[in-house]
Amino acid sequence: MNDQPNRPDGLKAELLEIALEAAHRAGAFLHDGRPEDLGVAATKSSAVDVVTEMDIASEKLITALLAERRPHDGVLGEEGASVEGTSGVQWVIDPIDGTVNYLYGLPSWAVSIAARVDGETVVGVVHAPARGETCRAVLGEGAYVNDRPARVRPAPALELALVGTGFGYRAERRARQADVLRELIPEVRDIRRGGSAAIDLCDVAVGRLDAYYERGLNAWDYAAGDLIAREAGALTGGRPGEPLSPDLTVAAPPGLFEALQARLEQLGAWHD
Ligand code: IPD
Repeated sequence: MNDQPNRPDGLKAELLEIALEAAHRAGAFLHDGRPEDLGVAATKSSAVDVVTEMDIASEKLITALLAERRPHDGVLGEEGASVEGTSGVQWVIDPIDGTVNYLYGLPSWAVSIAARVDGETVVGVVHAPARGETCRAVLGEGAYVNDRPARVRPAPALELALVGTGFGYRAERRARQADVLRELIPEVRDIRRGGSAAIDLCDVAVGRLDAYYERGLNAWDYAAGDLIAREAGALTGGRPGEPLSPDLTVAAPPGLFEALQARLEQLGAWHD
């Protein structure tokens, strides 16, 4: 049954197909075309918040494809793409999530593309070419990693959980994030810092991490990965009772999610 009133059946399938095509095209361009001498094209919030020429070119490639296929949709992209749109569909794009990994030649970077319909994320694709992996999800239809169903691990107790996290680009925020982490490290199995929030959320979805949290993400970092994690059985959110947001993103299977979210609340992980 069509759950989008006044919209044709098959909209979600169409959006998924376009997201997969755009992510694969951008991924091939980034993987095959990475210059040996890749440098920083610009900086954003701080000297270590970098943009490469490849981030900009990847976003252009994706937005051009979207404009050709669905000219009335809105677009929000990390590198500045911003189109209002009139169709009710909005694309949320991170042309390279894990830019610092990409700059240094580390494999954990991804193209992240989500489609929202009337504000609700219905499609998410996270394509990580150097890992040979594509995660995808459609709202209500499950999550997949390279065509295999993705499923979270059964929830362990917090003290046995392998927890991913990340850090912002501004020194003051990082200092505060380190304070929170100092408290949390003795209370969990271990911590991982992969360098791509989109991949971290997929790693929760496929059971390579028990949980993930981070303060300060933007919608383009989490939109696709959030849907993939939820469709794989995770709960996601922000502070207790709130949806995930730039203040705080938490993802984990039911049973662990509540314990981690409550501990992060006590530690004040949502503020600088
Ligand atoms: C960053 C990555 C990183 C996270 C940062 C994000 P970017 O995104 O997702 O893992 O810790 O908070 O900003 O800048 O590489 O697109």
